[in-house]
Parts: sequence; C-alpha cells; structure tokens
Amino acid sequence: MSDFDSLVEDTRATLRRIADAFSPAVFASSLAAEDMVLTDMILRAGLPIGLFTLETGRLHKETLGMVDRIRETYGHEVKLYRPETAAVDAYVAQNGMNAFYDSVDMRKECCRIRKVEPLNRALAGNKAWVTGQRRAQSSTRSDLAVQEDDVAHGMVKFNPLADWSEDDVWHYLRANKVPYNPLHDKGYPSIGCEPCTRAIQPGEDVRAGRWWWETPESKECGLHVVDGKLVRIKSVPA
Ligand code: ADX
Ligand code: SF4
Repeated sequence: MSDFDSLVEDTRATLRRIADAFSPAVFASSLAAEDMVLTDMILRAGLPIGLFTLETGRLHKETLGMVDRIRETYGHEVKLYRPETAAVDAYVAQNGMNAFYDSVDMRKECCRIRKVEPLNRALAGNKAWVTGQRRAQSSTRSDLAVQEDDVAHGMVKFNPLADWSEDDVWHYLRANKVPYNPLHDKGYPSIGCEPCTRAIQPGEDVRAGRWWWETPESKECGLHVVDGKLVRIKSVPA
C-alpha cells in the first residue's frame, strides 16, 4: 500500500471510529477543498455524521454553490446555520458593514456574531465535532492533533486531516472526482468570507489571502480558540 493509500485508510478509520464511538457527531464544513475530502468520505460511506456550514451571510456565491453541488452529487442536504439577525443589525448599525477592516477586535466581533455563536448552536447536544484543519495550513496549527479535547464546547474535536499535505488533498479530490469550489482554480487556496479573502500570488503562503491586513498570529476566526487563545489538549484515542 502506498503512503497516500494508508493515509486515506487511516482517515476513513478515524471517521468510522467517530461514527461508532462518539454519536451524535457533526462535521463543520466551510465547503472548501479539505472539507470536500471529508464530505466525500463521510457521505460515500453513509456514516451518521451530520454535515453543517456556518452561512455567515458574507460567503462567495461560488462557496454557496457547493451546497447545490453536494446535493446533486450525493443527494445530501447541508444544514446551514445563520447568525442572529438582531446581532448582525446592531453591529452594522453601530460600526458599518465592513468594520472588520478597522481593527482586530472589530474583526473578531464580526466573526463572533457570524461564526462563533452559530457554531455553538450547531454543536449543542453532540459528543464530537469534526473539522478539516491541517497542521501544514498555518503557524497557528503546527501542533494540531487528530483528536483533541475541546474544553470550550465540552466535547471531543477531531481533525482527521491533521497529517495531510495540500498535495494529498488535491490528489484525493482528483482521483475520486470530488466536486470543489471553483475559486480554488482562481488563486484562492484558502476560502473564508468574501470581504476577508483575496486571491494569492504564486509563491505566497496559502493563508496569505485570509485577513491579509492582519499578522499571522491573529488569523484565527474564533472557531478554533478558547477564551481568545489557541488551546490544544491532545486526548488519548478512545
Ligand atoms: S478559519 O478558522 O481560518 O476560518 P479555515 O477556513 O482554515 O478556518 O477552516 C478550518 C476548518 O474550520 C474547516 O475545515 C471547517 O471545519 C471549519 N470552518 C471554517 N469555516 C467554516 C464555516 N463557514 N462553516 C463551517 N465550518 C467552517
Ligand atoms: Fe466577518 Fe470577515 Fe469574520 Fe466573515 S471572516 S465573519 S466577514 S470578519
């Protein structure tokens, strides 16, 4: 078996273990390339892991189009969690539509309203959640483990692609003819909300197009932090 095949087998085994031992579990999909690998593995194997996206109200139309591609390809509906209208309205009335460019605090508050609070609703009642994070994505993820204790949400958090390289992701997507966000072919290796993501130039870091006006250390949106800090507690595999 090649290294790539055993990586795929290990990842499939992790997902089966989550479905067997941590039910109910959910998978948070940003609808980007990594998350399409996990979507394909979960849905093709018919694993009982719920699939949801935080629909922030600021995603690219191409990203939202992936909800339709998933329905067409797998006959599966992605559950969408949206921010509370009153919270968005209050933020916009006080600060304007694009206040996230003004300061890290303003940006984090927008992410809190549009992503973190809806994430809490999406995770409620589950024993585990799954993400598409990889160690190689950024300096803030270099010590990522496949299985972690998420103390903020009181559940286990799985990053089944922690060991995957970007090449592994694209090899899997192409070999299995998995649909992917067309923005990836237009210079966007990493995709978040439309106003906070730009295309990168050849040779730039893969996350250079995310919150490009901030320093690398602050580039986490709050989905993967506890009390404003990155806390990694590797848990012993159950
Ligand atoms: S972010 O924290 O900088 O926004 P990134 O885009 O790298 O994260 O995605 C890392 C993981 O966070 C994704 O694989 C996914 O599990 C989760 N995630 C990010 N954005 C969303 C979203 N809009 N909806 C659901 N999950 C998301
Ligand atoms: Fe707001 Fe940008 Fe965060 Fe999206 S990524 S929630 S638009 S600050």
